[in-house]
Amino acid sequence: SEGQPIARKIIIDTDPGQDDAVAILLALASPEIEVLGLSVVAGNVPLHHTQRNARMICELAGRPDLPVHAGCDAPLQRKLITAEHVHGKTGLDGVTLPEPAMPLAPGHAVDFLIETLRREKPGSVTLVPIGPLTNIATAFRRAPDIVPRVQEIVLMGGAYFEVGNITPTAEFNIHVDPEAAKIVCASGAPLTVMPLDVTHRALTSRAWVEGMRAMGRIGQAVASWTDFFERYDREKYGSQGAPLHDPCTIAWLLKPELFTGRYINVEIETQGEYTLGMTVADWWRVSGRTPNATFIRDVDADAFFALLTERIGDLDRRSG
Ligand code: RIB
Ligand code: CA
Repeated sequence: SEGQPIARKIIIDTDPGQDDAVAILLALASPEIEVLGLSVVAGNVPLHHTQRNARMICELAGRPDLPVHAGCDAPLQRKLITAEHVHGKTGLDGVTLPEPAMPLAPGHAVDFLIETLRREKPGSVTLVPIGPLTNIATAFRRAPDIVPRVQEIVLMGGAYFEVGNITPTAEFNIHVDPEAAKIVCASGAPLTVMPLDVTHRALTSRAWVEGMRAMGRIGQAVASWTDFFERYDREKYGSQGAPLHDPCTIAWLLKPELFTGRYINVEIETQGEYTLGMTVADWWRVSGRTPNATFIRDVDADAFFALLTERIGDLDRRSG
């Protein structure tokens, strides 16, 4: 309609995961964003679960039309590490959703990434990886011509002050496929990183969860997923709530002013005996290495959760 800014085109690369689900719902709820499709990767749980979870989330959101492409089922050159201890056996524990009726879109996720970037105007598609980076790295290696066509990569992964969650020195998404993360960081595409440093400040509160539960079936699903997801972080950190990691990427696209960070050099450790998958973030600019990423440190958590409440509420009302 007249005066409406053009919606930002994105592809979400995902390993659902309860927090992935909230990120996908936030994107689908927001008119400022046009989700071209989901490319699915193995991560939190194996690919047969993540591709089924992605379709269940789309149907919950009333979007059985959205292209969901299954992608890589293992890292580039390592054995898959999963996180059932955090996300449960299915990866979406906390809510039982109906078996998805929508089929997977034909074609491998890597081909979907390549074809979409070649078809859309250069610089008009943002990639939002919120799982291990295997699909993105494979697409970049197979079709280097698509890298300069990427508008921005906004990824959830890594850590500096928070250091690590799956090992003492590495965050899960990066640790699962360090070689893939290295390819993405070295690609030259504009890169924004949402590390644990900021996502651990996006902690759910009981009040926010109960507000979700008071909504329709979408809000209720988010509340139940959060209840399940929270228990791990509460036991581990003694925190009151759980970090909503992946939705930080979408909130950045919607309201970047909620976030603060620095444009610095970030390298990925792929050899370290104890540090495999570490994001070596030169926060204090001592390395002399060329900056390659906007590395986010803080978020206005109240505004972040208010945005989620507003948009999930809109989606619930729209697809009630
Ligand atoms: O370390 C947090 C990340 O790992 C999130 O993307 C979560 O979904 C898992 O993939
Ligand atoms: Ca994820």
